[in-house]
Amino acid sequence: RQLILPRDRSLPPEVFHWIPIIGSAPSYGNDPIAFLADAQKKYGNVFTFVMLGRKMTVALGSAGNNFILGGKVANLSAEEAYTPLTTPVFGKDVVYDVPNEVLMEQKKFIKVGLSTENFRSYVGMIEDEVSEYMAHDPSFRTFQMNDINEWGEFDPLKVLAEMTILTATRTLQGKEVRSNMDKTFSKLFSDLDGGFTPLHMIFPNLPLESYRKRDAAQKKLSEFYISIINGRRDNTSTNDETDMIAALMNQHYRSGRALPDHEIAHIMIALLMAGQHTSSTTGAWTILHIASRPDIADALYQEQVEKFSNPDGTLRSPTYDELKTLTVLDAVIRETLRLHPPIHSIMRKVRADFPVPPTLAAPSKDGVYVVPKGHFVLASPAVSQRDPTLWHECDAWEPARWNDADGEAQKAFKQYADENGEKVDFGFGAVSKGTESPYQPFGAGRHRCIGEQFAYLQLGTLITTMVRKIEMRLPAGMPGPNYHTMITMPKTPRTITYRRRNFD
Ligand code: HEM
Repeated sequence: RQLILPRDRSLPPEVFHWIPIIGSAPSYGNDPIAFLADAQKKYGNVFTFVMLGRKMTVALGSAGNNFILGGKVANLSAEEAYTPLTTPVFGKDVVYDVPNEVLMEQKKFIKVGLSTENFRSYVGMIEDEVSEYMAHDPSFRTFQMNDINEWGEFDPLKVLAEMTILTATRTLQGKEVRSNMDKTFSKLFSDLDGGFTPLHMIFPNLPLESYRKRDAAQKKLSEFYISIINGRRDNTSTNDETDMIAALMNQHYRSGRALPDHEIAHIMIALLMAGQHTSSTTGAWTILHIASRPDIADALYQEQVEKFSNPDGTLRSPTYDELKTLTVLDAVIRETLRLHPPIHSIMRKVRADFPVPPTLAAPSKDGVYVVPKGHFVLASPAVSQRDPTLWHECDAWEPARWNDADGEAQKAFKQYADENGEKVDFGFGAVSKGTESPYQPFGAGRHRCIGEQFAYLQLGTLITTMVRKIEMRLPAGMPGPNYHTMITMPKTPRTITYRRRNFD
């Protein structure tokens, strides 16, 4: 451990604010990206701001991402930062309610359920759900009229949220959950979700209705999953399911202890919450961009025509392996996540004084910066994902940049990767995943997302199915972001107009 004498250490610069305790909470809360980028101009890559009595130390840029996401467990704790929000919602003994090494074991259990074999069985299920939804939901009334000249309209956030939960419950969550979607489950999910807001993160317990509903829903949902597990134990014929419950029922900790039923139940709730808004808002932003760019919509459609045309001119559905060969689709999702990563701030609590490397922020005249124990640290890959020194026309949604290995658009990013000895694949394939990468919509390091492949499969199938069935337009132009929810969502107006492509 680096020893820095007290006289040689100093605190990072603090963002100026007028009101004590409240600090910069209003500016950060309204537009965190603008607030962080503005403070970066004034104070550099490392600075502290006050938010409702907490000291938040921000580290920006690739080196800042690395400092926080590559930080050691001895210095930084995700569980201490997130548990006030997540434990009442997920339940006890999982994710951030356990020491980090237990979470690492639980993530391995989840990975067993996220297998390629399971994914292969999911594509057809997802497509079925989307087709059924479009055939019956009132948002697609003109589509259902079978008239290719009649334009209708829908709200992409509503439609994508509903399609996401229907497809996630049909696949990962399992048939018992899916068949209860119209009954108890969706009401419980909505009550639980009402307890997953920035307010609940700051004040974990208040005598308010949303808190009471959250706690009651958590208890009931937990009991519901446990009843599914017991039902499956009693009925061995359901043991060939390809869902997450089936995978978790077979897992054991290294100590030999089986994963208890209540932990399976709480992991299932955690996965539902981790995947729902992240995937549905990414889907909504993607569909909005596609609707605003008929040239890209056409490229997506043509990609399918080229690969999946039947002899009679109709289009067939791709398989999971074929989905992965769609380079335009891949670039469209990747680029949407660059501009609209759903999680704008990644936080940790500082457990032990944490010195800032001079390569990230040069020491002040008073010495090396040290982030003291008790501060929170905040990384925001959303800022490096729009860094004008790395991204050509950084604020433009231009999926072609991902298929343009030698082009101007990628020069800076490629140079960064070369200098850092990182492998960067363009087109379909892994982009740089290191803790220092400037592109981290799924985070990096030990807390990196394990839902990425599932999200790509789910979003890819949703988008290809919609693009195959309808043409879309966005008359009012791209909406701005709403940062008042946990996940960055598109503001209103955001109506998409559409018409049926052809009869299928
Ligand atoms: C972690 C983003 C979908 C499960 C994360 C993190 C990010 C992220 C940024 C890191 C958080 C941190 O370091 O504090 C996303 C995005 C998604 C997505 C952008 C979709 C577009 C999913 C899905 C699942 C999931 C579908 C489940 C099936 C998880 C889990 C973690 C995680 C279990 C690990 C938490 C930890 O280790 O602390 N995700 N996620 N995510 N995500 Fe996702």
